[in-house]
Amino acid sequence: MKRRVTKAVFPVAGLGTRFLPATKSIPKEIMTLVDRPLIQYAIDEARAAGIKEFIFVTSRGKSALEDYFDHAPELESSLRKKGKKELLKTLKSTNMESGAIAYMRQHKALGLGHAVWCARRLIGNEPFAVILPDDVIAAEKPCLQQMVEAHAETGGNMVAAMEVAPDKSSSYGVLDIAKDMGSMVSVRGMVEKPAPEEAPSNLAVIGRYILTPEIMRNLNKMKSGAGGEIQLTDAIAQEIEKSDNVYGYRFRGQRFDCGSKAGYLQATVAFGLARDELCDELSDYLESMVNMRRAAQ
Ligand code: UTP
Repeated sequence: MKRRVTKAVFPVAGLGTRFLPATKSIPKEIMTLVDRPLIQYAIDEARAAGIKEFIFVTSRGKSALEDYFDHAPELESSLRKKGKKELLKTLKSTNMESGAIAYMRQHKALGLGHAVWCARRLIGNEPFAVILPDDVIAAEKPCLQQMVEAHAETGGNMVAAMEVAPDKSSSYGVLDIAKDMGSMVSVRGMVEKPAPEEAPSNLAVIGRYILTPEIMRNLNKMKSGAGGEIQLTDAIAQEIEKSDNVYGYRFRGQRFDCGSKAGYLQATVAFGLARDELCDELSDYLESMVNMRRAAQ
């Protein structure tokens, strides 16, 4: 019988160098889209997919993340006194049940595969999800929920996949497709960051995964892969040879790469425009900026 996916790993131990100097003292995952930090979008998506246990792989300097999920008694009592019920409700979504959230430290940034491996004892022998909070996905049905539903049919390992332009393939892991079944593809290989002429397809892996516990066993044995880091993609690729149970899932939704400046700014605009209270003012402003630029050219 296929087991339900109830655990998710959130690797948040990276250095976030593309956002220096901001990330010198603020974890990247605390940066906000409008008024919610990236990590809140990730947690909401996990909750919608039925995740009950949240495992954060953190590092030095990430204590703001731990505080974010804690209660804030003084703030709450001040809001209560002032009768600010809506704000109290907003704060509630940041609280986690006792025991639902765990933090593991990755002592050295040795790569995404290594970060996931740090959570092995908490995962045990169960399937688990991995969410990279800097990939933010706007979707009618949250991306991980779409994947959990598809995974209930297939089992095995599933990666979220997205079509990318050929000149972008060197920024992603790219799928070598065995069979294309529409929203799902079966995978016969994965290539990390290929040059455009070497990319086996235009389907790139982005930051949502559902994985079998075998991936942890593969990571156990792994040496450093591309770029001197321990790559999660390599550990998944090993399962293709061993069990032939790796799938790519073409999710429905728009993904923003909030680990890059351009992606983060685009997400800020998109999520701002999606808010009723901001939409008119923001779109007027954007229009005037575009007109000003055109006039200056
Ligand atoms: P990135 O490749 O975006 O690296 O990691 P980064 O360190 O966060 O950012 P830059 O490139 O220096 O700007 C993708 C995800 O993997 C996690 C990151 O926290 C991010 O969620 N990660 C990466 C780890 O947890 N540990 C690592 O050793 C590397």
